[in-house]
Amino acid sequence: MVTLLDKGYFPGLKGIPIVESKISNIDGEKGILTFRGYPVEELAKHCSYEDVCYLLLKEDLPTEDERTELRKELLKYKDVDINIANSIAHMDRNLHPMYMLSISVLLLQGSDSTSFNIKNQEENIQRAIRLIAKLPTLIGIYRTKDPDFAQGKEFDSFAHYALYCLDEQSAKNQDLVNIFEQLLILHADHTINNSTFSVRAVGSSHASIFASISSAINSLSGPLHGGANEKVISMLEEIKSPENIEAYIESKISEGEKIMGLGHRVYKTYDPRGVYFKKELLPKIFNEDNPFKIDKHLDNLYNIAQGVEEVALKRFGNKGIYPNVDFWSGLILKAMNIEPNYFTTIFALGRIMGWAAHWLENIESKNAIFRPKQLYKGLDIRHIDK
Ligand code: ACO
Repeated sequence: MVTLLDKGYFPGLKGIPIVESKISNIDGEKGILTFRGYPVEELAKHCSYEDVCYLLLKEDLPTEDERTELRKELLKYKDVDINIANSIAHMDRNLHPMYMLSISVLLLQGSDSTSFNIKNQEENIQRAIRLIAKLPTLIGIYRTKDPDFAQGKEFDSFAHYALYCLDEQSAKNQDLVNIFEQLLILHADHTINNSTFSVRAVGSSHASIFASISSAINSLSGPLHGGANEKVISMLEEIKSPENIEAYIESKISEGEKIMGLGHRVYKTYDPRGVYFKKELLPKIFNEDNPFKIDKHLDNLYNIAQGVEEVALKRFGNKGIYPNVDFWSGLILKAMNIEPNYFTTIFALGRIMGWAAHWLENIESKNAIFRPKQLYKGLDIRHIDK
């Protein structure tokens, strides 16, 4: 790790704690991730989206009544103002869905005139719930160009509603809804990652939750962060066939390029979310008697992914580079017929729970505004020659 003494500053703030937090924790050597003390695998296996949302926003798992109440609220607030819905439906089709999402979250501020008054934490929690509730609708409206998308429609759960906004057909299959829900939970929080740092930095100026989460969405869109899930599928398609894997990886290394979906700032062993995908979720989809009609193309991509993992472990394992959460998630989303350019919006549907929790904790802890320093390497003072 680079230290202050090596360079005089901390590139990428590697290894530098910037806040005290009680939300999530990672043991990067052992490959453990917990949310408020609970291992992420247990939450994915036994809990609903609503449970994890409650846990992150309100610090403990809900009772049955509390879960039902939160579910009702999340479904009650899903619709957006018709003017905003019309704007989203008419947005440029070339706009990447992640940028549509960040713009749309900002547009929602217009419907909350009190959003700049952040003194009351109970109201802040309610504001967070209303925002989380609307995120899938924003995606559904843009995807279908229908401003009335999902209005008046009844859903069993948040996961059911969220999958419907991505693919109406897949949402009819309860097994796929369950897998989708686990995928959202696995993404729910991850300490001070790049997008959560954005929430913390923007929120520290007491900007609104809309501004803070919009900035996090932009940060997540980058291919070195959440955008990697979309790029992994392009990479598998570019490799085309398992026999091309070694040559592909060698060419990337010689060009000094990164292999998408591998490596992590904190994990120096397997990412527990990647392990859960591999052991719990992918076998439910990719098996001989699967009910999900996996076509040959997708089966081939799965084989290539397994081959890339094998080669990568041999090539990079001793450097602590392993498949991360983005390596496997795309294959599952593709099996749900979701277009790859929407993959990172799904990451956001999970991560918004964590972003909101960090925004709330930022306010609660009365943290100082983020304002780090630089090492100035420019010209000394000079003057206009007049
Ligand atoms: N492929 C090849 N080599 C890699 C990879 C990779 N994916 N990741 C890291 N390395 C190598 C680097 O080349 C570097 O080697 P060197 O020491 O010989 O120069 C070493 O590992 C350390 O890499 P850094 O980039 O310095 O590590 P950092 O902690 O800054 O970056 C990151 C972590 C951004 C995730 C990086 O591993 C990466 O770019 N991965 C590919 C993109 C990706 O999958 N992103 C998703 C991350 S998970 C998430 O955000 C949801």
